[in-house]
Amino acid sequence: MTLLSVENVSKSFAGVRVLRDVSFDVRPGEVLGLVGENGAGKSTVLSLITGLLAPDAGTVRFDGARVHSGIRAWSPHRARAAGIASVHQELSLNPHQSVAENVFLGAWPTRGGLVRHRDLVARARPLLSRVGLDVDPLTRAGRLPLGAQQLVELAKALTGDPRLLILDEATSALDDDQVRAVFRVVDELRAAGKSVVIVTHRMGELFAVSDRMTVLKDGEVVATRERAATDHDDLVKLMVGRELSDMFPPKSKDTAAVPAEPVLTVRGLAVPGSCAGIDLDLVPGRVIGLGGLQGQGQREVLRALFGLRRHSGQIDMDGRPCRLATPREAIRRGIGYVPEDRKTEGLHIAHSVRANLSLPSLRALAPARSLTTVSRRQEARLVAGLVDSMRIKASSPAQEVRRLSGGNQQKVALAKWLPTKPRVLLLAEPTRGIDVGTKRQIYHHLRELADSGMAVLVTSGDTMELVGLCDEVAVMYEGSIVDRLVGAELTEERLVHASVVGQEVTHV
Ligand SMILES: Nc1ncnc2c1ncn2[C@@H]1O[C@H](COP(=O)(O)OP(=O)(O)OP(=O)(O)O)[C@@H](O)[C@H]1O
Ligand SMILES: [Mg+2]
Repeated sequence: MTLLSVENVSKSFAGVRVLRDVSFDVRPGEVLGLVGENGAGKSTVLSLITGLLAPDAGTVRFDGARVHSGIRAWSPHRARAAGIASVHQELSLNPHQSVAENVFLGAWPTRGGLVRHRDLVARARPLLSRVGLDVDPLTRAGRLPLGAQQLVELAKALTGDPRLLILDEATSALDDDQVRAVFRVVDELRAAGKSVVIVTHRMGELFAVSDRMTVLKDGEVVATRERAATDHDDLVKLMVGRELSDMFPPKSKDTAAVPAEPVLTVRGLAVPGSCAGIDLDLVPGRVIGLGGLQGQGQREVLRALFGLRRHSGQIDMDGRPCRLATPREAIRRGIGYVPEDRKTEGLHIAHSVRANLSLPSLRALAPARSLTTVSRRQEARLVAGLVDSMRIKASSPAQEVRRLSGGNQQKVALAKWLPTKPRVLLLAEPTRGIDVGTKRQIYHHLRELADSGMAVLVTSGDTMELVGLCDEVAVMYEGSIVDRLVGAELTEERLVHASVVGQEVTHV
């Protein structure tokens, strides 16, 4: 028995084939994991199921009915009415409306033309608790941290009691606790005979929930496997086309050999309403992590250091006091920043891959330091080098960034800083939405940058990433640093413990 079947589907964009003869099916009460590298075609095939796109060839059937291929035109509205709900990495909430209003968007209880807020709130409560979200339903959605907003999206998807739930990297902005809440919902759905298709680049999550996994590579299905018949290495090999060893590079050699002075010292940094009393020493050659549950002030620390947030406290660079009041000042002093929200802060999505990649390097590319004449040849070389080393999948350097897959946009946001050789590199969630092969590449790249004398500060909700990548992790809780883990203390267990308990772990 199948609930959904995708049969020999193909799709091209502007003559470029993105899906070729893709077939897979989903049974009732089954969780199917859909995996593949960035740009493999996962989101595209899901868009065919949710009616956002139509295939060039092939058929999609839902519950026995042919929904594509001319029988009747599928649309997001029809898909939703038939019981298909989806949550994406991209948020679709209206930030100015309340959580409850967002959850029931388009279906508000009204009387005499007026929205009945009491009803709305009462109906939102059980849904919010089902997704493990403890917030006032009247809070404006835009005020919640990203992860909580993502859970509101999930609550919204659950309103129509869907028969098929699609999660396209819906967990990538969540911390471990929140991911567990999502998986509880997935388990409930499965137990009730409903189906789920999940896309995630976190392999641990994939194995934790999927019954079967379908691997896409360059727009084609290369394998579908029962969970019991595969393992992590097998799957990665299918996805990437080769084995992946040493996910994380070796950590910095004992820095005592060369007692490096911090390039940036932070004492008592405070951002009103977000964090206070933050002390950090950013040392060339070291990768420092800022851990903790989501929204404990990590992001604001980075934003303050890049001059995006008003802050107080003492910041010294090379031992001399410095002001970081604007991003311009920060850049001038050699600070680079890869923000969490690339769409609005990190990229010019309507511009080309080339323009985005070369923007921070324009000064270096302009001969004789005139900003008006950029050397096209040098620019082309720089862009080609970055596309190659970060494995950015674009049809050409002229492709608009908004036409790239999510993970490839992310790579552009990160790659553009690399040639500027900042002395301090601040990164928020550097590998969110990135496939395993490229993740490995990014970890090794960051370590090389550190080894060449850069000081790196990184936030991440992925504990494994912080433990594998960083030399030291400062754990934040409610705006303060509550613990610092170095060397043998830096384990996932300690990190998770300090994150939830919010105090220094007593050494046992
Ligand atoms: N509207 C579009 N116009 C042109 N090309 C597109 C468009 N949408 C997607 N593509 C291309 O189709 C390919 C597949 O993209 P898709 O978003 O399906 O990848 P994905 O597997 O979801 O990757 P990721 O893991 O990065 O999200 C990419 O190379 C992308 O550039
Ligand atoms: Mg995608």
